[in-house]
Amino acid sequence: MSRQKIVAGNWKMNKSLQDAKTLVEMITNQVNDFDEVTKIIIPPFPYLNAVGEQLASKENFFLGAQNCHTNASGAFTGEVSANMLSSVGCHYVLVGHSERRQYFKEKEADFISKIKEALKNNISPIFCIGETIHERKTDNHFKVITEQLTTVLKEFTVTEFSKFIIAYEPVWAIGTGETATAAQAQEMHAFIRGIITDIFDSAIAANVSILYGGSCNAQNAQELFACKDVDGGLIGGASLNADDFCKIIFSF
Ligand code: 13P
Repeated sequence: MSRQKIVAGNWKMNKSLQDAKTLVEMITNQVNDFDEVTKIIIPPFPYLNAVGEQLASKENFFLGAQNCHTNASGAFTGEVSANMLSSVGCHYVLVGHSERRQYFKEKEADFISKIKEALKNNISPIFCIGETIHERKTDNHFKVITEQLTTVLKEFTVTEFSKFIIAYEPVWAIGTGETATAAQAQEMHAFIRGIITDIFDSAIAANVSILYGGSCNAQNAQELFACKDVDGGLIGGASLNADDFCKIIFSF
């Protein structure tokens, strides 16, 4: 997968099925012919099939899932495997989101297993990393990001890594209305490319798409996306409103 302009909407635990369908229809009606941006819709599990059917005929729209299990199948009540996601047309899955780290205590070993399962099923991981406010204030943000990336990426080959998307989501910016400045985002994205250069090489680092997430909205997307190393956004709250999400897509 080569470096692309991407806008992904992570709906988290929001919307009814009917609202989900209406939102997708409104989004695809507005941006269907704007194919230079890869659009990824990441609804809750119960709506994947319906949303996938709506997206199937649309230009450069893809379906993503918010999570997958570490195992392929079996007695794991309430869980969903990457194989199942693939069977309903998912091309992407979020792994390492800060809400999974914080509320579900997921750790690096989980992320590695989940990504391996995703890749086995031809699903690209959107691997999320980000520091807390305490880590930034104590000047540990570069160290934290280095650890989060290195622990996971060293378990993958170059070929496997070529399927990854990275999302930098500072925890202090998620759902808070406080966005990283364009300068902060650019600084960290360039740093992330540097880490990937150290783990793999500079050509691999130049080729990976790195998204910014954390209170990215219709007002600030343009400035963030103009940064050299920011390839798009992973959008939470603003992806729940068609007009806002479409404005973000048109922000490149
Ligand atoms: P917000 O855009 O609501 O801050 O959420 C960002 C996010 O967590 C996307 O995965």
